[in-house]
Amino acid sequence: MKEITARIYRYDPEKDTEGYFDKFTVEVNEGARVLHVLHAIHDTLDPTLAYRYSCGSGQCGSCAVRVNGTPVLACMEEALDGITIEPINLPVKKDLIVDLLPGLSAITPLKPAEKPVQITKKAIDAIKPLKDCIECLACVSVCPAMDVTKFLGPTVMRQEMRLALDPRNIDDRITAAVEEGLFTCTSCQACWKVCPKNIEIPGKAIEKLRSFANKKGLTLPRHQEVAALVKETGRSVTRIEPTFMERVNAEVIEPTGPVKATVGFFVGCMYDMRLPGTALDAIEVLRRNGIRVIIPKEQVCCGSPLIRTGQIDILETLKKRNIDAFQSRNIDTVMTMCAGCGSTLKNDYKTPFTVMDINEVLTKFGIEPPAPLPVRATYHDPCHLLRGQGIQDEPRQLMRQVVDLIEMPAICCGSGGGVKSGIPEEAAALGKRRGEEIKKTGADIVISSCPFCEFHIAAHTDKPVKNITTVLLEGYKEKDRKKAPAIVV
Ligand code: FES
Repeated sequence: MKEITARIYRYDPEKDTEGYFDKFTVEVNEGARVLHVLHAIHDTLDPTLAYRYSCGSGQCGSCAVRVNGTPVLACMEEALDGITIEPINLPVKKDLIVDLLPGLSAITPLKPAEKPVQITKKAIDAIKPLKDCIECLACVSVCPAMDVTKFLGPTVMRQEMRLALDPRNIDDRITAAVEEGLFTCTSCQACWKVCPKNIEIPGKAIEKLRSFANKKGLTLPRHQEVAALVKETGRSVTRIEPTFMERVNAEVIEPTGPVKATVGFFVGCMYDMRLPGTALDAIEVLRRNGIRVIIPKEQVCCGSPLIRTGQIDILETLKKRNIDAFQSRNIDTVMTMCAGCGSTLKNDYKTPFTVMDINEVLTKFGIEPPAPLPVRATYHDPCHLLRGQGIQDEPRQLMRQVVDLIEMPAICCGSGGGVKSGIPEEAAALGKRRGEEIKKTGADIVISSCPFCEFHIAAHTDKPVKNITTVLLEGYKEKDRKKAPAIVV
């Protein structure tokens, strides 16, 4: 047996004006789940504690709660001492019980043909990745788009895709999905990461539905313009100043000291065309830390803006051009510094080389310590770095060497999934929310590691927004300044 103390959210609409936390200590068996802790509290300390469960084995989805802030199934999550248990982020009915009805009633049932239709093996296989939903609504509870739009949410989209693939269903679920907010999803992947059944809703439902919508001519006009630009120029944005590629004449940039590693640099549209100064800062940091950088000039857009918006007709051409650009130079490690490009190269390509984000490169090979700056900074986790590539610790390791870091919740800023271009008012609403969280930290600056986030957040905060490499470079400049001999006049 072991003792567990848990903080539990309480709210009774009949007597409380707002929620509060109660602390309980109970004895449970080794290996007990969160649900066992709730049972023990209910049975021995407080029979009024309200929570929901049924199967007790991860099958019915009724026991979803937040443990230490993350949605989980109470019956599957191991109970650890000191945990905080709250309802998932949906309207609370009592204590840990939330109102599931609006979310569940939005899920479309299959509309069968009058005469029975035989489902094929091919259709069964296509539906497989979408069929395991247990309707716990954890995904709905973390969806940022649902907070600021009328989007019906991830599991509704999962079901629409399932029905679109099912020959027994007779009505048009693609048009319905568009009407239900298909294009409001920011591809933040929060839904996938909390799904207890690991259903890849962004890739297997949202992006597929968007590609079906594209075939029906339902792609948003602004997304069509982006696709036309990629087809015409190889880039998803237009230049506003001399590009990074134009500013860097040499194909190979040697480090200032001994070579620790050689990487190919996949620059990406945003750092090449819109934030070239940031990419130049990164080059300086890499040079100072022994990284030789090869920059093939014939590289093009990774295709992310097309994949996320369902316009994939030229995707294979882009992939081939990019892979050839690096493979022809025998590069075995390609470095990205755009979170979106990195996630795309790692997850949507089959590359004959290793892909590493710049944060991984710098932490793997180590950096010369910069001078600490008297700056309090908060960090925005880019969705495509945190959830798309699982990179959380590396940027923090780098930043802590140069600034005081103040954490804030890892929420989507609204710049991804084509939302910034396609539905700017939604992107602005999410950007505003990000700006409010930044303000709460009291930080002097915001640091991030993705050009889309940096560009978008800068419009929603009065604090300077900087890339990690820019801040590291500032630390090196400060170090050099302190070392420089004083000028005696
Ligand atoms: Fe059924 Fe947890 S009680 S999934």
